Amino acid sequence: MIAALTGSMDHMTSIRERRGIDVAVVRDHFPSLARTIDGRPVAYLDGPGGTQVPRECIAAIAAYLERSNANHGGAFAASAESDAMLHQAHAAGADFLGAHDPDEISFGANMTTITLGISRALGRDVQAGDEIVVTRLDHDANVAPWLAMAEDRGATVRWLELAEDGATLDLDGLDAVLSPRTKIVAVGLASNALGTLTDVGRVIEAAHAVGAIVYVDAVHAAPHVPIDVSTMRADLLVTSPYKFFAPHLGMLYGRADLLERIEAFRVRPAGAALPGKLETGTQNHEALAGLLGTFGYLEALGAAYGEVADRSDRRGKLRAAMSAIHEHERGMSRLVLERLATVPGLRLHGIADPERIDERVPTFAFTLDGHHPRAVAEHLGARAISVWDGDFYAWELVRALGLADDGGLVRIGVVHYTGVDEIDRLRDALLELVA
Ligand SMILES: Cc1ncc(COP(=O)(O)O)c(C=O)c1O
Repeated sequence: MIAALTGSMDHMTSIRERRGIDVAVVRDHFPSLARTIDGRPVAYLDGPGGTQVPRECIAAIAAYLERSNANHGGAFAASAESDAMLHQAHAAGADFLGAHDPDEISFGANMTTITLGISRALGRDVQAGDEIVVTRLDHDANVAPWLAMAEDRGATVRWLELAEDGATLDLDGLDAVLSPRTKIVAVGLASNALGTLTDVGRVIEAAHAVGAIVYVDAVHAAPHVPIDVSTMRADLLVTSPYKFFAPHLGMLYGRADLLERIEAFRVRPAGAALPGKLETGTQNHEALAGLLGTFGYLEALGAAYGEVADRSDRRGKLRAAMSAIHEHERGMSRLVLERLATVPGLRLHGIADPERIDERVPTFAFTLDGHHPRAVAEHLGARAISVWDGDFYAWELVRALGLADDGGLVRIGVVHYTGVDEIDRLRDALLELVA
């Protein structure tokens, strides 16, 4: 695995002189992007539902299963190697999210399972009459678990509503939904439907001022922007590695002192120590090995495109990679807005003003006059262009926009491996549909 990563780093470093991410070089790392259907290359614009993985990830999964496949804590070589890998996964996760300590990282099956578990555990401290804040913009996995917990505990739910633009949260209304009784605020960093980035730092500051804990859903933000839980002052922040080029997993950051206090639901032989306190049962070891492979890929990307003085600085390289991706995607956002604006009858839901590009990630949702979202997705699917349609579990949002009975939205997801030619193909296919 190490040799494969070193090779990939050299390969990327050789194109360091070029400005910005070289999409052709990046794409070479993702074997699935070479797939064709009926002679057409597949355009994977379905990233918000799950991204493709680099070959470093695939190789790391195979290497783990070929050599170190074992359960935790045994007195034999494979178990010791496996445990070392698990430690590395926590340490690299901490570097990716800017956490102080590997113990602040927990893994789980996916974000939804983690959130259901942690909402139950935090609910033990919630009394009747306490308040929970959720938002109209969030994925339901950061809404429904909190609603269920509030109902069980007799807590009151307060909603942070959409602003008039229908694309952002009404942060000016924040003070009105917070009170000294607020116990938890659940908010998303980026909308998985509209691509809106929310100023979570502002939410955290206001929530902390009334003594509330903030649970940040960073699932949709993680493939697009650098995340630093320390500067953000996040209490708890959750991601799904399968949305950022890694296998199907969930990954949670929790501030150490808060995690120590949480009374997690667990079986008796499982330790109450960190990490692991919130990790129920045996983890998906091969997927965690794959996550390490993906981090290796991102480190190489960071070393190639960012200013990283020390090549052993994993945190610096991961941050540099995500900054380079973010910068590259700003240009892609402008391009997609431009292309979509040429399609008659296309209505973009979300931030469309190129001047406001910093308030979004390159995820675009639209409706097309006279065409059901599923029919649009089928038309594109038949041309080997993968997109999602529906509500994408942004259940409240799609209802607030009044689109639930009409099939919701069509969603285009750009990530750093998306080619300009794919966006052109998308535009041409849409023009063909409306012609
Ligand atoms: C913003 C956001 N939050 C939460 C989830 C749920 O993640 P998981 O599939 O890991 O449970 C998703 C998945 O689409 C998402 O996009």
